[in-house]
Amino acid sequence: KRVAILISGGGSNMRRLVEDMKGDHPARPCLVLSNDPGAGGFARAAEMGVPTAVVDHRAFPDRPAFEAGLTDALEAARADIIALAGFMRILTPPFVARWQGRMLNIHPSLLPKYRGLDTHARAIAAGDAEAGCTVHEVTADLDGGPILGQARVPVLAGDTAADLAARVLVQEHRLYPAVLRRFAVGQRGRLDLSPQAGID
Ligand code: GRF
Repeated sequence: KRVAILISGGGSNMRRLVEDMKGDHPARPCLVLSNDPGAGGFARAAEMGVPTAVVDHRAFPDRPAFEAGLTDALEAARADIIALAGFMRILTPPFVARWQGRMLNIHPSLLPKYRGLDTHARAIAAGDAEAGCTVHEVTADLDGGPILGQARVPVLAGDTAADLAARVLVQEHRLYPAVLRRFAVGQRGRLDLSPQAGID
């Protein structure tokens, strides 16, 4: 399977996915694409020898035109699966429909709680004892598609949103590769990662 990874920023999840797809793995990264020409992840992708593409959303008159640009790059790369990893553009229902069943996203909360943004601040404000991340299939329902995996972390007294984000990100880097391996061979069961030993 050929996996296109879409990023908007640093691409730490992208890097872990690419690293995991080396050796005995049912998938290979075929493209790292960003809507932002300045995305830090491009340098990492180039270091790892993965082809990159910029489809700058600001260069298009509207969402459908932007998504036509995405589609051109994805077809040129012959992508079978899309992994959204810190991709910060909302995709329209027609685009999502074309990729339904072949597109994943990682979201930094225990969905269905805290869809949307600022998930860590919201979990802290709510006084939640735990937080975490979710990998789900992308559907037209934003952050609402079938859950493929979750990983949990404790919320600790005095946590700032940045503290919690850093703790969750470590688990994202475990969860996403594990889910993609299963997804690439057609497994759709839900994976709940056990807490990592020695986590703070
Ligand atoms: C992460 O918090 C991830 O959950 C969200 O985007 C943030 C940055 O991810 N999707 P990355 O470091 O760019 O992979």
